[in-house]
Amino acid sequence: MTQDELKQAVAKAAVDHIAPHLEPSSIVGVGTGSTANFFIDYLAEYRNDFDGAVASSEATAERLKKHGIPVYDLNAVNEIEFYVDGADETNESLELIKGGGGALTREKIVAAVAKTFICIADESKMVGILGEFPLPVEVIPMARSHVGREIVKLGGDPVYRDGFVTDNGNIIIDIHNMDISRPIQVEERLNNIVGVVTNGLFARRPADLLLLGTSEGVKSIARPGA
Ligand code: A5P
Repeated sequence: MTQDELKQAVAKAAVDHIAPHLEPSSIVGVGTGSTANFFIDYLAEYRNDFDGAVASSEATAERLKKHGIPVYDLNAVNEIEFYVDGADETNESLELIKGGGGALTREKIVAAVAKTFICIADESKMVGILGEFPLPVEVIPMARSHVGREIVKLGGDPVYRDGFVTDNGNIIIDIHNMDISRPIQVEERLNNIVGVVTNGLFARRPADLLLLGTSEGVKSIARPGA
């Protein structure tokens, strides 16, 4: 199977997982990226079975609206039962690196609100230790140099994502060669740097369920204790 076919398979599995739980008042949290896009396309088949969605990016909001799915501001919503999103890397504890598409902050906010976070990913995203994929950090523009120096002190190599502006008007620094053997600690240390909006480690709030696309089919992996 191609990588796209694996992404389609997990996207469909996510829709199959949540569809029986959808009610006319349900709001679905929707992530960003190519895997999330497949999820949106499948979810559209059920658009009469739920109220609407909260989007983790402008691009996702656009795609949802094109399918006729109402998009709500998060502040207008009481609860989100499911948040479905891709990842750039996952480990066996379902701790993730996200933000390859630069949407990490809104993704983290929607994930924080959702009762259940379902990660959908092809098997290339599963790693032993996070960090081969450069870790994205959203930064207030005037703090760019300061944050870069602090990242060096923590042992990472900061690379400015040239020309990229987030939906929130900020910049992204991608951290290469960072030791992420203790993801929660790294997440907290980076977030403590003044000028950092947030970073792409989802360790304090990992996924609850991983639907992993493999050549043998979609594997359903629940987070231990979730
Ligand atoms: C977007 O900012 C990211 O967090 C994506 O969820 C992540 O990059 C996965 O993208 P793909 O599904 O395109 O691999």
